[in-house]
Parts: sequence; structure tokens; C-alpha cells
Amino acid sequence: MKKLTITFLILILILFTGCKKTVKKTSDSSKSADKLILGFSQIGSESAWRTRNTQSIFEAAAENDIQILFDDAQQKQENQLKAIRSFIVYQVDVIAFVPIVSTGWDNVLQEAKEAGIPVIVVDRQIDCEPTLYAGFLGENGYEEGFAAAHFLVEKCRGRTGQINIVEFSGTENSSVATERAEGFRSVVDKDDRFKIIHTEDGDFLRSRGKEMMDRIISQNGGLRLNEKPIDVIYSHNDSMTLGLLDSLENNNINPRSTIILSIDAEQKCIDALVQGKLNCVVECNPNLGPTLMQLVIKIAAGEPIPRVTYMLEKIFTENDDFSTYTPRGY
Ligand code: AHR
Repeated sequence: MKKLTITFLILILILFTGCKKTVKKTSDSSKSADKLILGFSQIGSESAWRTRNTQSIFEAAAENDIQILFDDAQQKQENQLKAIRSFIVYQVDVIAFVPIVSTGWDNVLQEAKEAGIPVIVVDRQIDCEPTLYAGFLGENGYEEGFAAAHFLVEKCRGRTGQINIVEFSGTENSSVATERAEGFRSVVDKDDRFKIIHTEDGDFLRSRGKEMMDRIISQNGGLRLNEKPIDVIYSHNDSMTLGLLDSLENNNINPRSTIILSIDAEQKCIDALVQGKLNCVVECNPNLGPTLMQLVIKIAAGEPIPRVTYMLEKIFTENDDFSTYTPRGY
């Protein structure tokens, strides 16, 4: 019996110590044993933005000869925690993950730290002890919200009377939703004309954008809320915006009298902007792959990486000349 237990323990030991090699060999060539392995946990595929974000990371990994262990968390934090733990067991060289929400990561990041695996936080920020991860790469959600509000203030220059705003916000407790709300308020709260009369969590989903707009229209008999006209809709992402536009179209409501602001700059929303259905779209750049791979290579070589790397982002408005712009690719 004792002999059996020892054999079993040795087997486990062989499995675990041999783990990294086995994973590397799953790629292809003889060169694979020297490849860096990146464990990457993605939130899911809730939007065209997200799909492009995943593609960008895969393309850049292939260009840099980096092998990816990929996990799609299907919009669940518990799946992300499991994935990160499995990357630790596999002894990947670097872990990168897109945190669906900003809290609840301390324990798993402590485990990665104890295993000596550096972690890069991608796209959304987290709230935790800063020494638990190497750096952040992604967008500045505060600036995105600020830019949308700045456009609104310019657009409403000279207008008098109360301007009622309805806000469709992104996933609750996600850093981007919080930042986009705060950046927007940092501008509109300074001007008494603007009133945010309703905020609702649409989870960044097109279906929720449509659902929320359908409900407002059916309960209020049009683009109104509690007897007040809706002058502005601020949507935290293009998927929800496309959903609300679907609803307006199904209800034969012309959106031209309402100012609509969105974030992401997917092709479909740029098309809607050109057609006059939207007024401003702030870009959220999904093409993080090339910069992420540079950071992965640096960190795997033991070099420091910046604490925060923000992507460059543009603003598209109804005043732009679209005759020369390049298609978005997502
Ligand atoms: O975290 C980035 C946001 O997540 C994008 O704005 C949105 O489209 C996605 O769901």
C-alpha cells in the first residue's frame, strides 16, 4: 500500500514538473521548446469590439512567435479565476487577462506572484494591491467619457433650458463603466443645464440596449421619461448603441432630434454617424496586440515595463469629413 502511494506521488510530481514542456510541445515545430508562452484570459465575445481585441492579440502573438494558452471566460469572473489558476499550473511565462470587473483578483494574483509568473492587466483596470501585477495596458475610460461630454457641451453651446440625459452604462463594477461615467460627469456636472435623469446598466450588450430602449418607449409613449423629453443618450459602448438604434427604428422614431453619444467606433456606428443617426463616437482602441507582445517580451526578459500604457484614441463626430477615412476593421 505504502509503495503504491509513493508511486502515485512520483507520478504527480513528474506530471507537474513536466507540465510546461508538454504545453510548449502542443504548438508545432521543434522551435516550440524556445517559444514564450502567454496565458491569456479574455472576457468573452460580447461585441464586435471584443472580437477584434482577441484577433489583434492572436495576430500579434503569431507575428512575434509567442504561443498563447487562451481561455474565453464567457462573461464570468469565476471562469477567469479558474483560467488564471490553470495558467499557473502550466507554468506559463507571462499571464495577461482582461478583468471583467475590477475587484476580486487579490488571491489569484498572489498565487501567480508566489509562482514567479508576471501578470499584465489588459483593457480594464483592477482594484488591488499594486505589487500583485506588473502593469496595465489599455484605454483611458475617464478620457473617453470626458471627450463625449466635451463634444456635448460644444454642441449645446447657446442652448437654454434643461437638457435631459439618459445614460446606458456598461457592466456594473467594471473599471471602464466607472471611468466612462466619472469622466462624463466631470464635465456635465459643471453646467447646470445638464441633468442625468436616468442611468441603467446594459452590460455592454446590444440585446440589453434594445431592451432598455424598448421599455422606455413603451412605458412613456415615445422618447420621453417621466414626462420629460430625452434630449441626450450617452451609451457606454457601440453594442448598446446599435441595440437602442434598432429599438428606435422598430418604433419608427427618428433619432435626429436626440443627441446620441457612443464609445468604441465600430464600423457599424461610424456608418450610423455618417447617416446622421449618431452625433459623436469616441474611439476605444481594441488593437492592443502589438503593444501587449512588446510588453510580454520585455517582462519575460526580466526588464521592467511601465505601470500604465494607454492606447491612442480618436474622436469621430458629425462634423468630420468622412470622404477620406479608413475603414475601421471591426
Ligand atoms: O472594455 C472595453 C469595452 O468592453 C468596450 O467598450 C466594449 O465594447 C466591450 O464590451
